Amino acid sequence: MKIQVINGPNLNMLGERESQFYGSLTLAELESRVRDAFPQVDFDFYQSNHEGELIDRIHSLVRDASVQGLIINAGAFTHTSLALRDALAIWNVPKIEVHLSNIHARESFRHTSLTGGVCQGIIAGLGLNSYLLGVRAVIDLIDAAR
Ligand code: DQA
Repeated sequence: MKIQVINGPNLNMLGERESQFYGSLTLAELESRVRDAFPQVDFDFYQSNHEGELIDRIHSLVRDASVQGLIINAGAFTHTSLALRDALAIWNVPKIEVHLSNIHARESFRHTSLTGGVCQGIIAGLGLNSYLLGVRAVIDLIDAAR
């Protein structure tokens, strides 16, 4: 089973950014914790700070039948990017949106997710566990569709 994990802008700065919201793990540490928790899954991790690159990546995944599910933390693009939402809507695989912080407990401009509406579910506020639970959910959705 192959699952793509996409992280958006500023998530490459984990470990150096606002630890009260995002904890102390670096992105590399977070990725290896996800890999270690699911040895049966073949993960691909992608991070970009650029909206167009994230969209291009999703387009290439649409054409790659080997990838069966997606975990996405689109960072601030979650709240702003209709274009990213439209790209996600094209890709017909189980998709779960994750956030390290509880976006509903923060500023009101973080309360809306444009991208979450084209995902099967949203998990927020649990740090690394948002990703681990997201992967669990994607695996179950892939299995259920078989
Ligand atoms: C985030 C929440 C967003 O509001 C913020 O812009 C991020 C990270 C999170 O994981 O909690 O960059 O997606």
